[in-house]
Amino acid sequence: MPRIVILYDSLTGTTEHLAKAVAEGVQLVKGVGLQILKIGSKFPISLLNNIDVLIVGSPSIYSNMTPSLQTFLKTVTELSVQRKIQLTGTKGAVFGVYQWDGGWHVDRMAQTLMRLNIELVVAPLAIVDHGGEMRIHAQVLQRGRNLGEASARASLVLRY
Ligand SMILES: Cc1cc2nc3c(=O)[nH]c(=O)nc-3n(C[C@H](O)[C@H](O)[C@H](O)COP(=O)(O)O)c2cc1C
Repeated sequence: MPRIVILYDSLTGTTEHLAKAVAEGVQLVKGVGLQILKIGSKFPISLLNNIDVLIVGSPSIYSNMTPSLQTFLKTVTELSVQRKIQLTGTKGAVFGVYQWDGGWHVDRMAQTLMRLNIELVVAPLAIVDHGGEMRIHAQVLQRGRNLGEASARASLVLRY
């Protein structure tokens, strides 16, 4: 069964909200295994070994990923060079939330995955946090579901 990991960070819950929509999209596709990993929660980094699709999400923090996610992915890069984490053939997707600057950070996230030789299977998704109670408009969450579903379908195409 193809394995998909959603790896995300979220300081105040908006990206987490979007990550849940991405997970809903993945779960629309039968026959894939999903793990959702929040940076800061306890899990072995080796969970990323030999996964089929890595979906990474982050808020924009000064136009970059959160510092914790940057550190995490730097370690993944080092472990990949040392062949402790095998990412050959792993595909990817990125999503992010921002308030003001157009979501430049998702391009950085895409570049980080590409440096790991992870090819994106869907276009980077950047969603605006409008503030207030709603923060992400409900209809926009569908774009997160679409990203999750497309990533999951790509994992099936890759394997069979
Ligand atoms: C310290 C800090 C720096 C931020 N820097 C940016 C920024 O450079 N550009 C931007 O568009 N939004 C920026 N934001 C806004 C967040 O990206 C936005 O509020 C996002 O929805 C927060 O996501 P979260 O609730 O998942 O933490 C910043 C927020 C904080 C707290």
